[in-house]
Amino acid sequence: MPALVLLGAQWGDEGKGKATDLLGGSVDYVVRYQGGNNAGHTVVVGDQKYALHLLPSGILSPTCVPVIGNGVVVDPSVLLSELSGLNERGVDTSKLLISGNAHIITPYNVTVDKVTERFLGKRKIGTTGRGIGPTYADKINRVGIRVQDLYDESILTQKVEAALDVKNQILSKLYNRRAIGVDQVVEELLGYAAQIEPYVADTVLVLNQALEDDKVVLFEGGQGTLLDIDHGTYPFVTSSNPTAGGACTGAGVGPTKISRVIGILKAYTTRVGAGPFPTELFDADGEALRRIGGERGVTTGRDRRCGWFDAVIARYATRVNGLTDFFLTKLDVLTGWEQIPVCVAYEIDGKRVEELPYSQTDFHHAKPVYENLPGWSEDITKAKSFADLPKNAQNYVKALEEMSGAPISAIGVGPGRDETIEINSFL
Ligand code: GDP
Ligand code: IMO
Ligand code: MG
Repeated sequence: MPALVLLGAQWGDEGKGKATDLLGGSVDYVVRYQGGNNAGHTVVVGDQKYALHLLPSGILSPTCVPVIGNGVVVDPSVLLSELSGLNERGVDTSKLLISGNAHIITPYNVTVDKVTERFLGKRKIGTTGRGIGPTYADKINRVGIRVQDLYDESILTQKVEAALDVKNQILSKLYNRRAIGVDQVVEELLGYAAQIEPYVADTVLVLNQALEDDKVVLFEGGQGTLLDIDHGTYPFVTSSNPTAGGACTGAGVGPTKISRVIGILKAYTTRVGAGPFPTELFDADGEALRRIGGERGVTTGRDRRCGWFDAVIARYATRVNGLTDFFLTKLDVLTGWEQIPVCVAYEIDGKRVEELPYSQTDFHHAKPVYENLPGWSEDITKAKSFADLPKNAQNYVKALEEMSGAPISAIGVGPGRDETIEINSFL
């Protein structure tokens, strides 16, 4: 059972960092396969809190090899500052491997991200402004810069020239911005090359050899299922594939190698940025979820939009990812509500709909159909087993499991490593 995928089942921020860190001590490799420093994964170890953006959360487990796969987009300045931040706190980062095929987020990609959002005005996506979309666009347009290009100055210069040729026209003529100089970009990128070189590897070969040797590899998704470029709420999505298939393309590992796909599922729902969100709350309950759940973005500091649990989304995540398990997080945040509404279906133009509508217009019109589940008031943060939970909390978990279509194999009752109830072992 060597390869597991761990991914977000909603719109991101489900607690992937904590779940990855929890398993990190028992796996040999933790691999990021998509996204970049748009992610914000929080890991709490004892009284220490870490916010990881680009590095896999496994970097905090001394025995595990952290890997940045070919599907990730890498901002070299962020990479180096994240590494030095961890080194200052005594974390050994020397085992990190970075795919030479991963694409680089260049300074002009960041500029284009910000300028495009500004020009979209009211129609903006609400991106993290980290250059993610423009970097993936360059990759698909075949004008991207890869990590390996940092080690051939002439190739790097040619590629930056080709990329800037068109972009400078757009920046100066359409957006009224100053053109960006090729030399300045090349010089900046070359300045990072030597520091990154020790980590650069053929990660596809390393990971496949590890799997042949029966090593345990964990793929850590960034973002979440509903932010997937193909399967999410397009166009209000990120520009990569956080869903399970992304682990294969983003790390170069065949689907036959993956034995388990774990969906991280928050006991309620949050979303950052623009886009439809049927169970969003604009009242005191939404405010309470935000306050009690600490729902503020790790990357951008934006308040997260909050709402009740949506079982339609959870069922969809089970289907498109082939989920074998759920890890339900933040159950403790729901303590204190007398009744907890759960969205079991949508009403769209007067009709009850049980599954996620594939039409964007329908999804925008979806109104949640709620069932109220009885709440609990007892503190559950010390619970170590399912039996320790109050009856109503147990019933809430069982109801979610039934509606969502995969077993809930772990429950988070607090941010710490040990604030977790294990029901079925993942390994
Ligand atoms: P990620 O992007 O999926 O890794 O999630 P984030 O780190 O952005 O957001 C999840 C937040 O919830 C972090 O602050 C975690 O420390 C916290 N967290 C994770 N699991 C639990 C849990 O079971 N209970 C509580 N109260 N907090 C949790
Ligand atoms: P983690 O890994 C929540 C959202 C942004 C925006 C959209 C596109 O911490 O769960 P992008 O910068 O990726 O082009 O922005 O995606 N988004 C996230 N929302 N958690 C994340 O990561 C996110 N990464 C991107 O807010 O709506
Ligand atoms: Mg996050």
